[in-house]
Formats: sequence, C-alpha cells, structure tokens
Amino acid sequence: MLDPAVDPAAYPKVRTCPFAHEPEYARLRAEAPITKVPMAGGGTAWLVTRHDLVRQVLGDPRMSSDRRRPGFPRLSANQRPIPSVAPLLVGMDPPEHTEARRAVLAEFTVRRIEKMRPRIQQIVDGCIDDMLAETGPVDLVRALSLPVPSLVICELLGVPYADHDFFQERSSLMLRKSTPVEQRAHAVEELQSYLDRLVTGKEREITDDLLGRQIRKQREIGEVDHHALVALAFLLLIAGHETTANMISLGTLALLVNPQLLAEIVADPTKTPSAVEELLRYFTIVEAATSRVALEDVEIGGVLIRAGEGVVALGTSANRDPDAFDQPEEIDINRSARRHVAFGFGPHQCLGQNLARLELQIVFDTLFRRLPGLRLDAAIDDLPFKSDANVYGIYEMPVTW
Ligand code: HEM
Repeated sequence: MLDPAVDPAAYPKVRTCPFAHEPEYARLRAEAPITKVPMAGGGTAWLVTRHDLVRQVLGDPRMSSDRRRPGFPRLSANQRPIPSVAPLLVGMDPPEHTEARRAVLAEFTVRRIEKMRPRIQQIVDGCIDDMLAETGPVDLVRALSLPVPSLVICELLGVPYADHDFFQERSSLMLRKSTPVEQRAHAVEELQSYLDRLVTGKEREITDDLLGRQIRKQREIGEVDHHALVALAFLLLIAGHETTANMISLGTLALLVNPQLLAEIVADPTKTPSAVEELLRYFTIVEAATSRVALEDVEIGGVLIRAGEGVVALGTSANRDPDAFDQPEEIDINRSARRHVAFGFGPHQCLGQNLARLELQIVFDTLFRRLPGLRLDAAIDDLPFKSDANVYGIYEMPVTW
C-alpha cells in the first residue's frame, strides 16, 4: 500500500516494516540529529531525530503548532490546511490553546479515566463474546481493535455508536496521505455538519456526557461557543478511536510473534502496564504529527532555526534513540519506557493518553486470557499495513483461535 506519489528522497520516509525502522534515521541521529531535508509535501523542514532534541523542540514555546502558518511542514502533497469551523486544539498556540485545553482537561485525569474501567471491561468482554460466537477466522480490526475505542469515545462524548460506519470511513479517508485534497475536504465537511447537528441537539436538551457537561459549564460562565464545541468533538472523535485501534492491532501482533513476552504478561498481569508503555514506544504510530514552525529565531542543538522555518520532531526516531533507551530495537517489557514521546511532549502532549493506556491494558489482559489459542490466520508479510496513513497501523488482521 505504498503511496506511489511520494518522492523516495523526501521525509518523513514511508514506513515499510512495522518492526524495523528506517535505517536513515539512525544515521541522521548519529551524524546530523537536526538537519534540513526535503519534505514529502514540498519545500524543506528541519528534521529532528534525537530524543533529547525532540523533547526540546516540543517543549519550546517559540515553536508554533498553527498549521495555517506559512512554513508549517507538509507531510504530503495533499496535506494543505482545510478551512474548518474553528481551530482544533492540536493546531492552537497559547494563550488560546492553554484556555481550550484547561476547559476539558478534567475529563481526562487518571482518576476520572479509572472510573471508566468497569464499562471498558464490559465493552471488551462484549466484543470477545461476539468473536467467540463465530468459528473464526475473524478480522481482529473489525471485531475488536476498532469497536473498543470507538464505543468508548462515543459514550464519553455522547455520539451515537450506530453511526460508526459513517465517521470511521470519513476519519480513515482524512488520515490517508493519498486522499486527494478535495475528497479530504469533503470528508471533513460531512463529519463537521454531522457533529454540528449533534451539538445543536445537545444545546436544546443537555445530555450527561462530555459534550453536555461542556455546554452546561459554558452556560454557567457565559455563552456556549458552538463552533469550538463542534471542533472539540471532531478532534476527540478522530483522535479517540483511530490511534488506539491501531495500537490494539499492532500490540496484539507483537505479542503473537513474541510468545515469550506474551507468556510473561499472561503469567503476571501486573506487567501489562509496562508492556503497554513499551509497545507504545516501539511502534510510535503517530510518528510525525509533532511538527512545528518557528515563531522566532531559535537555536536547537547548536543549529539556528530561523523564524518561519518548519520543524519535524520525529517521535519514531526519538523513541529508538540508543542514548535514551538501551537496545531500542528490542521489545523489553521490563524496561521503564515512560520517557518515550509516543504521546508527544510539552503543552500538546496527548490529552487522551490515560484513556488509551487503560483501553490497551484491558484489551491485552482480557484478549489473551479469554482466547489463549489466539493466532494469526495470515502470513505477516501479507498483512495490509498502513504505510499510506498519517497514523501507522493495520487495515485488516485475520486471526483464529
Ligand atoms: C495529541 C498520540 C490516543 C486525543 C496527541 C499527540 C500525539 C498523540 C503524538 C501530540 C500531537 C502534537 O504534539 O502536536 C496518541 C496515541 C494514542 C492517542 C499514540 C493512542 C495510542 C488519544 C485518545 C484521545 C486523544 C484516545 C482522545 C480521547 C488527543 C488530543 C490531542 C492529542 C485532543 C491534542 C492535545 C493538544 O493539542 O493539547 N496524541 N494519541 N489521543 N491527542 Fe492523542
């Protein structure tokens, strides 16, 4: 599924193997950890490949996330900014970003997310019951990886799960680098008008969910910002199911092909949280969303980045930096991988990380306990990996048990 339009000399490189990473990144990390490169979407940007420098870029307030600014790195030719009803959190800068993030932060604290554990367990068990009702093989992506995070985010936001085909199709189109810009714009528009109607309904009759609670809170202090709520729903709906779904598939694959690791977590489920952390580091599925543009001249790692120049803080390379992680090419579930940047770093660090962690822990513990004979029903080389998407993963993963 390689994107034929991508220039092989351009960055970020197309990911061709889920396990081994691009050897060019290792060379750059050692020889030129911050270097100007041609971008797949045109123009040039500074590519940052070392762990310490990636964190420095992402923590620097002089680095803007505003995708509308000239110079912002384009990961593909189709990735021009699409006018939306309101800017998304991920593309805002302070003070707007600080305020918008603070308004919703309380929904995603460890304590708040932990309260969702029984319901998430029920959802996972329900999906596995449905799998067991079949004789196999089944596509794990359709049966488990997508429905779990999708059901969870729908319930949290108050979006009807019955519409999941509609929003999953649109979000998948949006995340493919090869989707023509007009088609991507159309998918954005359709999803926005769907959420616009949904939020309008909730403004009329407040529901007990994240969007309803935001409406109530905003009314208490003033007027409801309808467009900002639609934008929030849009981002959370996409970020909330695609990412975790891909980690469920890839994590399951990694455990299936490493039976000794799987045996360790089955024997001692207290190891699952650190296994999840390590798998997040190892796969770094959102490898280049952490792009920025310099607001003023900034010196990073002895290199002067001029105002208006784009910077790609490459998480996928940082997470395989041998100066940050011993033997980074190995999956070591007993290491402390918490310093990884799979959720980004700094003010834009993933808002949903506690939720993603909990979903992944419950899925891996439950799946291998209830289906001890789970195995792939295809050769790994035949699996359709998402080499053409902005979030890496697997489109389809036949399994049996
Ligand atoms: C931001 C990764 C799951 C919501 C980010 C960023 C990364 C990331 C790398 C930083 C982007 C940047 O610096 O520009 C992931 C991964 C996930 C995951 C690997 C799953 C394994 C989720 C979930 C949700 C979510 C489940 C929602 C429920 C968000 C939001 C932001 C974000 C709203 C923007 C935060 C801000 O700009 O302040 N995510 N994410 N993510 N993520 Fe996630």
